[in-house]
Amino acid sequence: MKILVLGSGAREHAIITALLREQPRPSVECAPGNAGIAAEVPVVALDPNDPVAVTDYAVLNSIELVVIGPEAPLVAGVADALRTRGIAVFGPDRAAAALEGSKTFAKRIMDEAGVPTGRAVRAGTLAEAEAALDEFGAPYVVKADGLAAGKGVLVTEDRAAGLAHATFWLEHGSVLIEEFLDGQEISLFLLSDGQNVLPLSPAQDYKRALDRDAGPNTGGMGAYSPLPWLDAQFGSENEFVDEIIATVALPTVRQLAAESTPFVGLLYCGLILTDAGIRVIEFNARFGDPETQVVLPRLLTPLSGLLFAAATGGLGALARPEFSADVAVTVVLASENYPQDPLVGREITGLAAALSGHGVTIAHAATALIDGALVSTGGRVLSVVAVGDSFTQARARAYEAIGQVHLAGAHFRTDIAARVT
Ligand code: AMP
Ligand code: GLY
Repeated sequence: MKILVLGSGAREHAIITALLREQPRPSVECAPGNAGIAAEVPVVALDPNDPVAVTDYAVLNSIELVVIGPEAPLVAGVADALRTRGIAVFGPDRAAAALEGSKTFAKRIMDEAGVPTGRAVRAGTLAEAEAALDEFGAPYVVKADGLAAGKGVLVTEDRAAGLAHATFWLEHGSVLIEEFLDGQEISLFLLSDGQNVLPLSPAQDYKRALDRDAGPNTGGMGAYSPLPWLDAQFGSENEFVDEIIATVALPTVRQLAAESTPFVGLLYCGLILTDAGIRVIEFNARFGDPETQVVLPRLLTPLSGLLFAAATGGLGALARPEFSADVAVTVVLASENYPQDPLVGREITGLAAALSGHGVTIAHAATALIDGALVSTGGRVLSVVAVGDSFTQARARAYEAIGQVHLAGAHFRTDIAARVT
């Protein structure tokens, strides 16, 4: 199968690594990719957000499946354009991608479908925002309504800070003030063909920049999979997943289908386990980053078959994907001053030593080769991944590897999966 992956981050690198593990190997290329991806597959200098450019390229090059990594191409209508030309695409049309792109849309779908989520009020003016903050009380949760590249959500005890966040995002549109939800967070990915869903194994992401969940929210600083503590609460991972399928994923997919905006692609359920039960805090319309880097290394079922079946309405005929009993941990190496204003363009060294560790892979998040040197090009630079037969082992491997990498000013969290046994 000839596959084109769109995107340039560690998530796309992890998707490509999983595809290249298959026997027989599919033919894979990536647009635009990064230095790590370019070392493994051909990369194409193509704007992944340009529906015409992507579609023309796919037609001319007989691409059989396009896998859309990030949200921006979805919101730009790249999947719509590909479908119109009859090309199989893993990723929803623009209308269904609003599940991620518009929190108001997501809340409405959840309300209609009876999916459990936090109470929220949409505010279009500062006065409305103030009233909502006072209605819910502290801790305050303020969210930008549209896409905000991981910077749209503020959770704070400080009313003035909440109001300042609302003021900033009101200039870009409306905001949502939400009830604070307390509990463990879980990311569960489900493949959807518009009617049927198949679950992947759950993961947990570390969203805050600093150890012990201090500092600002980021795109994600680390992750691990599976979540052994689910067994105590639900009996097993499968029972937890069954509950999410029944109460969250299928109602959502069916609601979208009933509204003629079928969701074909990856339904990312961002969940919180509160004392009152499971609540959805967000949906995304794509694989999570960095969770993908710990979910896909454990996947035993060939990924290309799953993605193609989702893209072509064929999930109903497939069994649930299988996962190895190995565990996986990823630690993200971030640029100095990430997430505020990352300093980029610095040389990265030590990768060969890091990669010599047992069970270690490195997914590149933002790298380029310039005059033969590997340099950082963004906030999250590398996602160092280690698998092992225990969390103690996988963690030790991941931290030993990341300790070998040199990037001036870089930082990473030291507590990823620290409390998991
Ligand atoms: P989101 O972009 O909606 O995933 O939010 C980013 C992060 O903010 C989440 O991963 C949570 O850690 C936190 N968050 C979002 N909504 C809530 C909420 N209602 N209560 C508590 N924390 C939240
Ligand atoms: N890791 C969170 C996300 O991908 O949105």
